[in-house]
Amino acid sequence: MPLNIRTYHELTEADQSGLPEQIGAQRRRVADRLATVRRVVAVLSGKGGVGKSFVTAGVARALARTGRAVGVLDADFNGPTAPQLLDLPVARCTVRDNAIEPVVSSEGIRCFSMAMLLEEGQPLAFRGPEAEGHVWRGTLEAAALREFLADVAWGSLDELLVDLPPGVQRFTELIELLPVSPAVLAVTIPTPESRDAVRRALRAAVERGAHVLGVVENMVGGGFSGTAGDELAAEFGIPVLARIPWHPAPDTWDELVRNMGGAS
Ligand SMILES: Nc1ncnc2c1ncn2[C@@H]1O[C@H](COP(=O)(O)OP(=O)(O)O)[C@@H](O)[C@H]1O
Ligand SMILES: [Mg+2]
Repeated sequence: MPLNIRTYHELTEADQSGLPEQIGAQRRRVADRLATVRRVVAVLSGKGGVGKSFVTAGVARALARTGRAVGVLDADFNGPTAPQLLDLPVARCTVRDNAIEPVVSSEGIRCFSMAMLLEEGQPLAFRGPEAEGHVWRGTLEAAALREFLADVAWGSLDELLVDLPPGVQRFTELIELLPVSPAVLAVTIPTPESRDAVRRALRAAVERGAHVLGVVENMVGGGFSGTAGDELAAEFGIPVLARIPWHPAPDTWDELVRNMGGAS
């Protein structure tokens, strides 16, 4: 059955007037849906292209190898990459009993991504007033996050990894929706530019009460110079959980997962 998201494509005037009630109902559904998820881990960085999605996929695989039940929510609606990184079949998701069923990889990782709602190669298109396109986009992306969290039936999970887009906007929307603050995994590359962007994102996360597990320094040992990982760790009093080289071997991820600790 093709998925038909109710408020996603268009928020009419009438819908908007009932929005606070809708959001309240969705938050309750989110809490119900996530009652069987032991820990939500938000993969955050202020910057694009540093490897959030790459790290999310590596962590998901390593978790699955240890036998833990793991899900990945690809919350980068404009640049969804999780299905490709997890080698998922090109599948459209299905809806059963009013819930979206995640697509399951051969390694047992459950994934939901906007890519599963889009025709291959089609960019996400938002309808709305031309002049205020960016406002509509933000509003509708926030609505999409609410609906996905309310509607995806993850089942019992030890860890739900949320692969975020660059910036902190989606993270702040996420933390407002969740019944319990997510744990945060910060991803940086070694450069000072990345350090500064990740610092801003981490400050926003800490201000909102998120528990930061630590920082992952990615793309280490080739091309990028700097010590962003150590500097962020010192500033925030958090550990460097891993330094990931280009094309890391599986044991790099296994070590990262050990350092992340388990869901409590
Ligand atoms: N350690 C790494 N080794 C090899 N390729 C990597 C590594 N980290 C990231 N990449 C690649 O770099 C690109 C950007 O990473 P991505 O995870 O998409 O970044 P982000 O999600 O932060 O925007 C992708 O093509 C990804 O596969
Ligand atoms: Mg990404």
